[in-house]
Amino acid sequence: MKVGVIGGGNLGSSLIRGFLKSGALSPNEIIVSDSDEMKINKLAKLSVAATNDNRKLVRESDVVFIAVKPDLVEPVLKEVEDLSEGKLFISVAAGVSTKFIEERTRGRVIRAMPNICGSVLQMASAYSMGSRATAEDERILKELFGKLGTTFHVEERLMGAVTGLSGSGPAFFFYLIKAVQDAGVELGLPKDVSFKLAAQTARGASEILLTSEEKIDELISRVCTPRGTTIEGMKILEEKKVADAIREAVRAAARRAEELSR
Ligand SMILES: NC(=O)c1ccc[n+]([C@@H]2O[C@H](COP(=O)([O-])OP(=O)(O)OC[C@H]3O[C@@H](n4cnc5c(N)ncnc54)[C@H](OP(=O)(O)O)[C@@H]3O)[C@@H](O)[C@H]2O)c1
Repeated sequence: MKVGVIGGGNLGSSLIRGFLKSGALSPNEIIVSDSDEMKINKLAKLSVAATNDNRKLVRESDVVFIAVKPDLVEPVLKEVEDLSEGKLFISVAAGVSTKFIEERTRGRVIRAMPNICGSVLQMASAYSMGSRATAEDERILKELFGKLGTTFHVEERLMGAVTGLSGSGPAFFFYLIKAVQDAGVELGLPKDVSFKLAAQTARGASEILLTSEEKIDELISRVCTPRGTTIEGMKILEEKKVADAIREAVRAAARRAEELSR
């Protein structure tokens, strides 16, 4: 199976790195196209075929990821429409519906929302099936994305929520980890030590959540011993309504995905 990725930017390149790292695909099964020569040269270093020719990519691929910015999906589809018969298109563009793509291609379509954590095989993603996509197409998607992390089928009307939560999510977690790191520095820790303590703590906390039988609230209470240290910090988080701010951030990102909808 040959897989093409149109757009080798942040998301496209993280998918490619994940496919290679996980062994889901070998370099000779991947072709990527980009309009930026510098990116093409960088991607070619991964030993995959890299080109500026979207038509060549579609001609050579069975599965075509569309990983350009949402407003560029339409011109890209126009460019390759006559070559699209029999191809599976997997679009990761925020807000672009399967219907929009189906109306502009003869291929089968899946809409997916991955995140940049695919490059380290820790991706959280979801997908919706287009009207022409088959069970075999779903199997291909699940196999590829399953190697990069977890993936869930959701109704297409929920893709905005997924975009706000796990598509944009890495930036929200980076921001939180940076705040913890900065607090450590203010308390006198060297920056590199503070950074590693913060990031590793986030990793460990996620790992416990994903593997434990215990609920989140039980785990919080397990760290918050009465009259201990953590409870003092939790009081501040409650007072400053941090949970509300985070919920609002996810909602704002989801809303933006809806605004981009086509
Ligand atoms: N970034 C994320 O974390 C994330 C997460 C989930 C989904 N997404 C989705 O993924 C898509 C890409 O986002 P991104 O952040 O990876 O954007 P990006 O870094 O700008 O990558 C897009 C790449 O496509 C190239 N490009 C532009 N026009 C092209 C064309 N006609 N043919 C081939 N390549 C072309 C761009 O080159 P130039 O720079 O020269 O324009 C750029 O290198 C978006 O639709 C976004 O909604 C992104």
